Amino acid sequence: MKTFRDKVAVITGGASGLGRQFANVAAREGMKLVLADVQGDALERAVDELRAQGASVIGRLCDVRKGEQVQALADAAVAEFGAVHLVFNNAGVGSGGLIWENTEADWEWVMGVNVWGVIHGVRIFTRLMLAAAEKDPAFEGHIVNTASMAGLLTAPAMGVYNVSKHAVVALTETLYQDLQLVGAPIGASVLCPYFVPTGISQSHRNRPDDVRMTDRPTASQLAAQAMTDKAVTSGKVSAEAVAETTFKAIADGQFYIYSHPDALAGVRERMEHIVAGINPADPYAAAPQLREGLRAKIKGAPR
Ligand SMILES: NC(=O)c1ccc[n+]([C@@H]2O[C@H](COP(=O)([O-])OP(=O)(O)OC[C@H]3O[C@@H](n4cnc5c(N)ncnc54)[C@H](O)[C@@H]3O)[C@@H](O)[C@H]2O)c1
Repeated sequence: MKTFRDKVAVITGGASGLGRQFANVAAREGMKLVLADVQGDALERAVDELRAQGASVIGRLCDVRKGEQVQALADAAVAEFGAVHLVFNNAGVGSGGLIWENTEADWEWVMGVNVWGVIHGVRIFTRLMLAAAEKDPAFEGHIVNTASMAGLLTAPAMGVYNVSKHAVVALTETLYQDLQLVGAPIGASVLCPYFVPTGISQSHRNRPDDVRMTDRPTASQLAAQAMTDKAVTSGKVSAEAVAETTFKAIADGQFYIYSHPDALAGVRERMEHIVAGINPADPYAAAPQLREGLRAKIKGAPR
């Protein structure tokens, strides 16, 4: 997708963090915007701020776990602006701890937002764009799915999140292949950020009642929460910078988008181990004190 001006962008998880910054860049580029989120107050604030900057924008409450709500979002975008050209399936949440300690509700919530949210977005918006392309030979579209470096690595004590983000990478690679197969004028990219300061480590703030945490957190869940809080808040690459990188990648037709290319050394090592049939590498080989700190917390923290 080469040009953004006057085109329509839909952004899920648009009220905070990366989604909010995609909205800023899209507005600056002259796009019309549809923001979707489950957090009503933050969504309203984002819409007000963008309108104050002169952007054409609507906000819709939308729980991306639900197909009918994503369909309603697409319908609202078409009703307001007539078409959709750029979609960010970006809403995401996290839940950590030892993988056997996560409850069914943890799995349902994280897989619901991170995987089903992207599935619904791809199902609904790709077909909408293909129909638009049928009618208009000049149509250009693009879909960006937010995965994570957790979609390419398998760090301990964050298994539910790792599984969900690996699914997003596989889904998006296949989307790319399928779009190429049919020669669609629609691009696809997968965004794989490392730690970026946003609200992600506090994603339980919007955890819905139907998947509420009922038990007290285990020691490993508390340790994982503390670790993620620290890693996210001390991230050195800003959400603004990731949004700029992402828009440049869309314009360049680049599929894999990284915030921290240095972190790819771990991906290379993982792939080499897979190909050679060697057991997974120790993720703490260069910083064993991190492993020992985590171990001590898991063993020692009160349950
Ligand atoms: N920040 C990081 O370090 C980092 C790293 C890798 C990947 N990511 C991914 O980036 C994406 C954006 O997260 P962020 O870091 O900006 O966090 P964030 O918490 O600041 O923003 C996420 C937004 O998604 C919304 N959301 C949550 N559940 C939703 C649902 N069911 N339906 C619609 N919206 C929902 C939240 O209300 C919030 O506004 C996520 O997919 C996340 O997994 C973030």
